Amino acid sequence: MARDTKYDILFEPIRIGPKTLKNRFYQTPHCMGGGSEKPGFQAAHRGIKAEGGWGAVCTEYCSIHPESDDTHRVSARLWDAEDVRNLARMCDAVHASDALAGVELWYGGPHAPCMESRAVPRAPSQLASDIDPLTVPMEVSEEEIRELQGFWVEAARRARSGTCGGARRNECAASCERSAPTRRTTRCTRPGSRSSEPATRPSLPCTSSAGQA
Ligand SMILES: Cc1cc2nc3c(=O)[nH]c(=O)nc-3n(C[C@H](O)[C@H](O)[C@H](O)COP(=O)(O)O)c2cc1C
Repeated sequence: MARDTKYDILFEPIRIGPKTLKNRFYQTPHCMGGGSEKPGFQAAHRGIKAEGGWGAVCTEYCSIHPESDDTHRVSARLWDAEDVRNLARMCDAVHASDALAGVELWYGGPHAPCMESRAVPRAPSQLASDIDPLTVPMEVSEEEIRELQGFWVEAARRARSGTCGGARRNECAASCERSAPTRRTTRCTRPGSRSSEPATRPSLPCTSSAGQA
């Protein structure tokens, strides 16, 4: 049966920044247990999706730094060259079908329990996570926001070096509710401002920095 012509546009290429998707089918990030630690599983799973015709295939949420370690859950990671090497297998599998590989860069703030890295996550306030109440972050200073921006930039560069061309910033979908400050955990940190004023939101400058990387 011939395709209804109203769907033709879905099969046309579309330009996103410097990249061109071969069609409009964008496989959003989703976890499946592969992460960066099981590169063969990761590559095979995403590769099959690309083979099936998706124009872009993403990783699951991908931690940018040991301070954002979600163990006991399984995220992808881009902490170092070994993670790059492992995720590059997925990129190769996706590219083999002429699709683009995307990565969802993630810094979990108060919600990253860091059970493996034993690091202390940083967040807009020191209040415990309302998802993982045993996770208590350190309050970030304005200067430290610059350092966190650097984490995003470095991870974006590592992603590019592993040829994950479509670095997708962690600003939407499921991750937003997990990394965005809530009314309970946020307070205004600008000198001289009143606590009732809108709070600063570190994730925004961080992600725009990563976009420039
Ligand atoms: C098992 C599972 C894992 C997911 N993991 C992520 C994730 O890591 N990052 C993210 O932004 N969204 C994640 N999502 C959300 C999906 O990307 C998608 O936005 C959501 O499933 C809605 O799309 P759908 O209506 O086609 O299912 C996940 C969804 C599922 C079902």
